[in-house]
Amino acid sequence: MEALLARMTLEEKLGQLNQPRGLPSVTDAGPPEDREEQIRAGRIGSFLGIRGAAATKRLQRIAVEESRLGIPLLFADDVIHGFRTIFPVPLAEAASFDVAAVESSARVAAVEATAHGVHWTFAPMVDIARDPRWGRIVEGSGEDPYLGSLLAAARVRGFQGSDLGADDTLLATAKHFVAYGAAEGGRDYNTAEVSERTLREIYLPPFHAAVKAGVQAVMAAFDEIAGVPMHANRELVRGVLRREFGFDGIVISDHTGVRELIAHGVAADPQAAGVLALRAGIDIDMVSGIYLHDLPAALRAGQVSQTDIDDAVRRVLRAKYRVGLFNDPYRYCDPTREQTRTLTPQHRKAARDMARKSLVLLKNDGNVLPLSKQLRTIAVIGPLADDQRSMLGSWNGAGRAEDVVTPLAGVRAAVAAGTRVLYAKGTSVSGADSSGFDEAQAVAREADAVLLCIGEQSDMSGEARSRSSLDIPGMQEALARTLLAGGKPLAVILFTGRPLSITWLAEKAPSILLAWFPGVEAGHALADVIFGTESPAGRLPVTFPRTVGQVPIYYNHKNTGRPPQPDDNQDRQKPDKNTSRYLDLPPTPLYPFGHGLSYTTFHYADLRLNAQQIPQGGRLQVQVDVTNTGARASDEVVQLYVHENAASVTPPVKQLRRFQRIRLRPGERRTVAFDLGSDDLAFYGLELRPIVEPGKFRVLAGGSSVSLIEATFEVVPG
Ligand code: NOJ
Repeated sequence: MEALLARMTLEEKLGQLNQPRGLPSVTDAGPPEDREEQIRAGRIGSFLGIRGAAATKRLQRIAVEESRLGIPLLFADDVIHGFRTIFPVPLAEAASFDVAAVESSARVAAVEATAHGVHWTFAPMVDIARDPRWGRIVEGSGEDPYLGSLLAAARVRGFQGSDLGADDTLLATAKHFVAYGAAEGGRDYNTAEVSERTLREIYLPPFHAAVKAGVQAVMAAFDEIAGVPMHANRELVRGVLRREFGFDGIVISDHTGVRELIAHGVAADPQAAGVLALRAGIDIDMVSGIYLHDLPAALRAGQVSQTDIDDAVRRVLRAKYRVGLFNDPYRYCDPTREQTRTLTPQHRKAARDMARKSLVLLKNDGNVLPLSKQLRTIAVIGPLADDQRSMLGSWNGAGRAEDVVTPLAGVRAAVAAGTRVLYAKGTSVSGADSSGFDEAQAVAREADAVLLCIGEQSDMSGEARSRSSLDIPGMQEALARTLLAGGKPLAVILFTGRPLSITWLAEKAPSILLAWFPGVEAGHALADVIFGTESPAGRLPVTFPRTVGQVPIYYNHKNTGRPPQPDDNQDRQKPDKNTSRYLDLPPTPLYPFGHGLSYTTFHYADLRLNAQQIPQGGRLQVQVDVTNTGARASDEVVQLYVHENAASVTPPVKQLRRFQRIRLRPGERRTVAFDLGSDDLAFYGLELRPIVEPGKFRVLAGGSSVSLIEATFEVVPG
């Protein structure tokens, strides 16, 4: 590699740091340039958004055979929750609380993407998000840094496999570094106002976990913290990410992130933007073209160093070596593999399993679900019941709407031969159209049960898809009201990429199954659960607020000096009610983190610890007995939280520290064991370094963050 570096001109070096889009887009700066000519001239090191064995091979050939040094290209793409076989959106996958399943999902995506010439994915998105107005909450693992860290590492393993040199593994990217999810007001790209403590406790851990799992790239975020945009944030990129975490892979800008330093107001012109970014530690300039065009002048002026440029180039070349491109630049461009590894029955099966696992039963009064397959007539109603596009969710890679089994199709495929399935759209997702209500009512009248498919369309969450309201859009709630008045057993199937404020629905609808956006196998997976072939067991990886006014609301909050009582909104006159409350709302969320029902019930008992006292640095064994007390087999997500009663820094009211998704037959009892160590009891002390302090702790176990049994222990000096 050093020999190659020594032969490179400055322009060829900067070419390696230049990543344009495959096809020029409206946000590209400057006039469209001839990509092929640029490859020949060694002015492009990697591409964003080119896929396909034939397309990548054609361009790779130009790089390898027609450029002076023959350095192969890297093809990067956003492979986020599946490539062609689209899996549930990442937030939904997080709801499975199934680390192995999430890893397999990323593995399938890697197998498909690499067969289409892709070497590098811009995933996993590991941003913690506590604000559901932020549309990109759909792309992450929710609000909890522990769950987020485990899933970040799982996805890295899934994408990168155990051997980056294999032909079905690709480079992963942990993004967006850092606190992108803390955008004020939930407005995308907005400023993040976070303390260093919150950065370290909440936003940084999933990045650290991804680095420990060997992630090969990290993408800088669009936000700024304390006046310093992340693309210029030397302290966090070179300081925390590289020096503290020991990250030695590629740091890539986000799309035009380098140029955006001008709009941020820290750079007066492109050259200044390029200087700031390179000095901060951004190796690759995605789409701005500034490194290529403006760094030569900056180098001449002594504003950047040759060492910084060379180091960045080394990291890019190293990635190319690692994926094996110097041995065989065409190894990812095999049309046969492209055909045989795409949308295979096994991949579809994995997507169906994952989707099934990600469904969350929010409510099920009177056991409306599961439905019998033998009912005479079932009405499937709602604008999302037959919407193929929306089932794919926010990033659909090479996914196609035509591959999707809609909820309606899934129900039709599952019912017994004599069962009639009626369909009415009822209304559109947004807008004020109620012209379909009569038809919907007529269809419901004929039916023995109603499945009402409502929520958001897939393009209402994702990048630049922030909302100021979390209500179900359009006339859909009115449609629900009309149908509920008909009195038929009714289950709402709720599609969304974010927590929604469904307080009214939660009160009135007997049953609500949260489907998120389940991917290509949506209909089959839903039918599996709707008809009880499988019991739902997903859990909320993020809190559902009662109204948008409660946001941000998350389970691991601080207690405050005046914690509210559950009914503190009731009596506004009482002087002793000067608590941290709202006058017009209970202080609790609508559905808490970790919540989710199943078709059976579970009982937790005998939470026991192997010691009442452990020394600082010691370990603790925790056991709890979980019994399936209902009549059906089901998975259960056993959750373990920890709380320190008093410490030198205010502790959160509880923190998830372990979980296990287990399966229990009716009547079966299992002892679930967890082992806690220093990492699980530590917090960032006043010096902002992790410490375990002597003191009393509570350990809490249960099936959600609010339904818990507890035991106590003490950490003693030593
Ligand atoms: C912008 C997004 O923020 C990022 O997540 C994505 O990887 C890039 N665009 C490339 O598409």
